Amino acid sequence: MDSFIVCGGRRLHGELSASGSKNAALPIMAATLLSAEPCQLHRVPDLRDIATMTTLLESLGATATRHPTEATLAVDSSAVEQFRAPYDLVKTMRASILVLGPLLARFGQAEVSFPGGCAIGSRPVDLHIRALEAMGAQVAVESGYIVAKAPRGLQGAEFCFDTVTVGGTENAVMAATMARGKSTLRNVAREPEIVDLVQFLRAMGARIEGEGTDMLQIEGVPALHGATHEVMPDRIEAGTYLVAAAATRGEVKIEGISPEVLGVVMDKLALTGAEITSGENWVSLDMKAQRPTAIDITTEPFPGFPTDMQAQFTALNAVAQGQSVVVETVFENRLMQAHEMRRMGAEIDIAGDSARITGREQLQGAPVMASDLRASASLVIAGLVAEGETRIDRIYHIDRGYENIEGKLQCLGADIRRLAT
Ligand code: UD1
Repeated sequence: MDSFIVCGGRRLHGELSASGSKNAALPIMAATLLSAEPCQLHRVPDLRDIATMTTLLESLGATATRHPTEATLAVDSSAVEQFRAPYDLVKTMRASILVLGPLLARFGQAEVSFPGGCAIGSRPVDLHIRALEAMGAQVAVESGYIVAKAPRGLQGAEFCFDTVTVGGTENAVMAATMARGKSTLRNVAREPEIVDLVQFLRAMGARIEGEGTDMLQIEGVPALHGATHEVMPDRIEAGTYLVAAAATRGEVKIEGISPEVLGVVMDKLALTGAEITSGENWVSLDMKAQRPTAIDITTEPFPGFPTDMQAQFTALNAVAQGQSVVVETVFENRLMQAHEMRRMGAEIDIAGDSARITGREQLQGAPVMASDLRASASLVIAGLVAEGETRIDRIYHIDRGYENIEGKLQCLGADIRRLAT
């Protein structure tokens, strides 16, 4: 298992380009199953989760060809003849559940291994299932698999989500594109990645309105055709580099991302004292060598503060001036990085879903262990600030969601290297 060795204390400075969004690319790849015609996806990041979804599509009978130098993926789902997402793939990536809706919509059957609990809480999929049942699917759990059937096809339905769920919204909207008649989905997620998925589905011929609001209306069509789409930039990746620059009192310009998708993250960074500037397709942050000011955050579904940026801001607050409270409302058990940061000298008290943080001028390098994707990123940030050497183990978590993170940080002047073991 690879590790990162980070020698902290250098201010990050420089420019980089945003990669394509993992959380947009995964549902879009699943959506290619809805059509028997080929699809071309551009700006698909080179990540472990993307490789897992590619393997899953191939195991169903699709062909997926990645251009060796361009971030382009061609998917042809014309020969799909398997409808089962096996345990071995689902256990490495929960987003495998996203093939459930498309398979059911096009083939009237799907089996997906039940995603178990994971490091950031129990993460049920009950709402995915209830939305599909509302469209007439018969769903049973057999030997650890969700077995869904709709032999006469799905029918349009009204469904209101009890909780805002990104994956649940994605599964339901993909299923509804080919259901008979009209579907109205309420209390849906409004994340930019949902908007990107809807734009792709529309390019495939789907009739959908309301993306970016809390209600989606879908008029089912008998078949979808192939389409070409450029995946949106990764707002969480961009946000992570902005926070890394802020924590090291540095400056960074990120090309290829519009400030709108970063939303409240930009507002919070401005409150730390950073000078933020932006154009149509770039964002930059300059700390002017000053120590950031601590800020309170509470995670919420979009347009609230993203849970996927919580760990990085916890690292920032750990070295900022003043006290702060970080409240995690989306997932239980997602403050684990705080325990590892304490080993680096951070002053963080955890009570339930809240972390109370007293910023320290300096952290000390230490051996730490990554526990999930964003927690790993926060440990890298802490390591970049700490005095001395930090060794981060289990970085396979980070490879799931950050394209060439060490290369990008090296370009910004960081002292980070991968130790392959
Ligand atoms: C997606 C993102 C993940 C992000 C999360 C929240 C992808 C591939 N992953 O995950 O990076 O952290 O959104 O922004 O896009 N819930 C239920 N029942 C369900 C489904 C969800 O109770 O059937 C709950 C979850 O336990 C959680 C909350 O809803 O508390 C939000 O989860 P959800 O939005 O579904 O997260 P994911 O789609 O898994």
